[in-house]
Amino acid sequence: MSSTKPTTTVSEAVRKHKEFLFPAVATYYQEPVALVKGEGSYVWDDQGKKYLDCFGGVLTVSLGHANPKINEAIIAQTKTLQHTSGLYATKPQGDLAEKLAEISPGKLKKSFFTSSGTEANDTAQMAAKLATGRHEVVVLRHSYSGRSATALSAVGHATWKPLPSQVAGIVHAPAPYCYRCPFKLEYPSCDLACARDVKELIETTTMGEIAAFMAEPILGVGGFIVPPKEYFSIVYDIARSKGGLCIADEVQTGWGRTGDKWFGIEHWNVEPDIMTSAKGMGNGVPIGWTIATPEVADKFPGLTFATFGGNPVSTAAALAVVKMIEDEDLRKNCRVVGDYLREKLEALKEKYPLIGDVRGMGLMQALELVADRKTKEPNPQAVLKVFEETKKQGVLIGKGGLYGNVIRTGMMLNSTKDHVDEMVAALDKGLALC
Ligand SMILES: Cc1ncc(COP(=O)(O)O)c(C=O)c1O
Repeated sequence: MSSTKPTTTVSEAVRKHKEFLFPAVATYYQEPVALVKGEGSYVWDDQGKKYLDCFGGVLTVSLGHANPKINEAIIAQTKTLQHTSGLYATKPQGDLAEKLAEISPGKLKKSFFTSSGTEANDTAQMAAKLATGRHEVVVLRHSYSGRSATALSAVGHATWKPLPSQVAGIVHAPAPYCYRCPFKLEYPSCDLACARDVKELIETTTMGEIAAFMAEPILGVGGFIVPPKEYFSIVYDIARSKGGLCIADEVQTGWGRTGDKWFGIEHWNVEPDIMTSAKGMGNGVPIGWTIATPEVADKFPGLTFATFGGNPVSTAAALAVVKMIEDEDLRKNCRVVGDYLREKLEALKEKYPLIGDVRGMGLMQALELVADRKTKEPNPQAVLKVFEETKKQGVLIGKGGLYGNVIRTGMMLNSTKDHVDEMVAALDKGLALC
């Protein structure tokens, strides 16, 4: 008797996703994956297949899925006191703010908590405008900062902009994207033309003085674009000479991911006036954070309020995340395992001419794929092929870059060299098919 039962089950979760969600909520893969369980660096789909998760929900599951220590903190706090709003003081919020004042660079001391990176960046821009009395902000092309009107206006990718900029006074400087230098120059003989251009940008496209310069220490969504080491000191000096405050968006680069330091900006020998983060800060629990110097924070007048900001459960989770990164020396782990990963990726570059560039820091490493190393024509089709094969091999990776031709890896901060070997073997198989 022949069975009418299909050999593969179409996931109910995928069907409902397609039927009931905005189509703009895009999923990876020809056949989207529905995840049902996670443990450490691994996740399982609803067909029972196990994957090594090398993207962590976009660099957000920083310490592993269902991490017992973080879960313990979340459960204990949920059982005690779940929500208060910022109208009341709570121990987890106070303890977290105190710890963040201790580990943040320079004079950053006063925190404001929200629920997302978008809100964190909006708060940062608002604080800069209020503190300086000026309204114009310089951001970078190829940057990503969120999806509110302000954040979207700052985004430097057409792909992520369904509407034109709604907020006036945001201007986009050329990105420090050495592989595709906007000035067609070469580092170091370029003399950092991209950084120096910010002076003329301010003088020609703003009123001449700005509220802020806001940038990611490594452009995340842009495809892990790492600026030359002198970039930030030049650009921060220019911004400050034009009355601007400097905002570092650490939504992707924070929490030790770049290796050795808590925050990406610390690699660039500058001190921001305002810093933001979210994502990996809560290991998956929604939290956004803006920290400023007292001089900036104290100039935020009147009242401000975010219902979920400083939520006891989110702040207890973040406190547990910070404690675990510190206790287990994970900033060093990111450097050590990240260096190992980098070596393996460089070896893949030797083997496959379609890898045009390998870049990143710590456990934030990317491959930019090109059709031809000379012309550097972006090769997003190859990225799709690698995606399908790595999925088959049981490895989930991420994508990015303006042209969709960058493979992004954001392994857990507590990943091991064995995890790296597993991911690299899958990448190798995928690249071999291109
Ligand atoms: C650098 C950066 N800033 C801000 C955001 C926005 O964060 P959220 O999606 O939590 O609003 C993102 C999100 O990817 C990001 O990568």
